[in-house]
Amino acid sequence: METVLVIGATGNIGVSAVKGALNSGRNVLAIIRSQASADKLIRHIGTAEGITFVEASVTADDGVKSVVDRVRAGELPGFQHVYSCVGGEYITLPMKDITTDRLRANMTSMFEAAFFAYRATLPYLLSQATPTTWTLCTGSQGDIGTHALAAISQGALFSFATAACRETAQTNVRFNEVYLALRVEVDEDARVHGVTSSSEFAGVYEAVLGNEGIRGERVWVERMEDLRDVRVTRKF
Ligand SMILES: NC(=O)c1ccc[n+]([C@@H]2O[C@H](COP(=O)([O-])OP(=O)(O)OC[C@H]3O[C@@H](n4cnc5c(N)ncnc54)[C@H](OP(=O)(O)O)[C@@H]3O)[C@@H](O)[C@H]2O)c1
Repeated sequence: METVLVIGATGNIGVSAVKGALNSGRNVLAIIRSQASADKLIRHIGTAEGITFVEASVTADDGVKSVVDRVRAGELPGFQHVYSCVGGEYITLPMKDITTDRLRANMTSMFEAAFFAYRATLPYLLSQATPTTWTLCTGSQGDIGTHALAAISQGALFSFATAACRETAQTNVRFNEVYLALRVEVDEDARVHGVTSSSEFAGVYEAVLGNEGIRGERVWVERMEDLRDVRVTRKF
């Protein structure tokens, strides 16, 4: 059975990725930063079945690499798919009030974590003979810009995704960017706030996993219809 490595597994989008992976009949290798985060994920999924948890710091430049090393050593399950969705602060603080520490912390969690994960996992995926995927969740804040910290990091992720699509184009790795313009929250919060739930958004990842034609694309999730009929355009 295939396995999906999820980075940022315990957040709104991560829970959705885990649900999508499990719904598609795959197992999950979830990187977590504490047992409390693992408990949170189990509560949102409703079971720990099919999920292997591993503790690592995804914001450290060798955090995901240490997980890949343990996979290669046979201590953790091998994976064929990666989903990256580490978050940061979603706030409207004016840029003049953003301290250097705050800027760096957010660029590290929202941008560098994805880059570190890609750099650590790509050689492992390329070494496999079978098709694999790498999926990145970005957001429309990068175009709207009402929440500066999120917007700036999304902008960097857009370019990162284009470069990754280019360099994996002729390989066994299908890299795709899921561009999310809806607000997605874990089911219990989504019910309270009247926004899209992680369970609803999970179908988009199932579609990406299941459709080998989706490669090097931006997957647009702007309207509720996009949750049912996946809409894509080439990244380059
Ligand atoms: N939710 C949306 O509607 C939406 C829309 C568009 C784009 N996005 C993008 O999707 C990404 C995830 O969003 P989200 O709503 O899922 O965020 P979230 O609910 O806040 O989840 C963030 C995830 O990142 C982890 N994380 C955050 N800071 C970390 C750190 N310093 N070290 C290790 N792990 C850290 C959290 O782990 P813990 O559980 O341990 O805290 C959690 O797994 C973000 O880049 C966001 O901009 C989200």
